[in-house]
Amino acid sequence: MSSRVYFPQEIIRRKRDGGELGADEIEFMVRGMTNGAVTEGQIAAFAMAIFFRGMSMDERVMLARAMTNSGRVLDWRPLALPGPVLDKHSSGGVGDKVSLMLAPIVAACGGFVPMISGRGLGHTGGTLDKMDSIPGYRTTPDLDQFQQVVRTSGCAIIGQTADLAPADGRLYAIRDVTATVESIPLLTTSILSKKLASGLDGLAMDVKFGSGAFIPPIEGAAELAESMVTVATRAGLATTALLTDMNQVLGTSAGNAIEVREAIAYLKGEARETRLDIVTRALATEMLLLGGLANDSAVARTMVEQALASGSAADCFARMVSALGGPADIAENAERHLSLASAVVAAAPERAGAVTTIDVRKVGLAVMMLGGGRRRADDRIDHSVGLDAIAGLGDHVGPDRPLARIYARSVEDAQDVAAFLRSAFDIGDRAPPQGPVILRRIGGRS
Ligand code: URA
Repeated sequence: MSSRVYFPQEIIRRKRDGGELGADEIEFMVRGMTNGAVTEGQIAAFAMAIFFRGMSMDERVMLARAMTNSGRVLDWRPLALPGPVLDKHSSGGVGDKVSLMLAPIVAACGGFVPMISGRGLGHTGGTLDKMDSIPGYRTTPDLDQFQQVVRTSGCAIIGQTADLAPADGRLYAIRDVTATVESIPLLTTSILSKKLASGLDGLAMDVKFGSGAFIPPIEGAAELAESMVTVATRAGLATTALLTDMNQVLGTSAGNAIEVREAIAYLKGEARETRLDIVTRALATEMLLLGGLANDSAVARTMVEQALASGSAADCFARMVSALGGPADIAENAERHLSLASAVVAAAPERAGAVTTIDVRKVGLAVMMLGGGRRRADDRIDHSVGLDAIAGLGDHVGPDRPLARIYARSVEDAQDVAAFLRSAFDIGDRAPPQGPVILRRIGGRS
């Protein structure tokens, strides 16, 4: 036990002036965040000092560990699971329903996936909101029940709980209202504190770049991916990151119930949009490698294909939904259980031609305008609204092919959103060259 005496303002001052903090100082601040000894103003100032001065990799590892240890850390050993405990985290995108397919695919391949997801805020959708659109599905079971569902179904997608990394819960709420979210050290440590508290054996990161991403420039996204992989690995969690393109919507839909429908159609093999398919299979491959379920990527890819082709991934999804209180026949009767808003309007383009660029952030904001996303953390959302048949880059749009189909509460709402959507799409004479969906892989083995 150190005999040094610490004061929050002195630690904030040292960081403000560009100093490097030690483990004792970081642990002192995190303890104070958890027990209330450090005030809201001091936490905000600390976050702003980190925002401007950054943190060394050593400091990040210490902060992630201290926040992890501020609450319960899940221990899977008493459950004697016959496979590794694996998860994926995405930096957030529009139409990103990958988790809904990925968790059951990996479960069908012998992994166990305790996925603790966030709600959407701003233009990006949240996995939790999508799951909330399933009638009866409980996104907030207690942690013991959560572990049992993971054991019996192979996967469970639930919401953040106050028991895991409570220091991050307080810090994140303050960052959210003090313009300090977009800091790579703070993002890294916030995300990893919760993943480390989940007791994982391996983590795949999907870090997005492009117009719909949280950090649009490739350089920023790559820096976040490098930071996540370095800090996680040094904290003892095997992690690989993929840098994936968010210059167009992932899949063909954006919203909540509508995205669950697309995920179920994917699992059943009824419709698999190419880019969504590539990203889902690549992340599943990474998770199987991280967990030692496959020795190389070719084997992992074959396992993923079998999980999809045999229907076992779809079965895992259905088991998870039913175990958490949702309908037992979600896979057979998705359309009955996942109703969509009744005012349906096609968003016509300004002119006929090929889609040359998409402001994907605006597509996400269009879902918010419909009531399907939040402006404030306590907003209620409408799960039935959204978009489908969303055009991608290079698609030819015109009188017979709209930019998207809009599901709204009223025709007036839909028309407002159609006008807004037109401003998100640039139309030209020729399809633009397409970049790869997965730009780079960081960390891990092949
Ligand atoms: N999600 C998190 O959990 N933390 C952040 O800092 C941002 C998004």
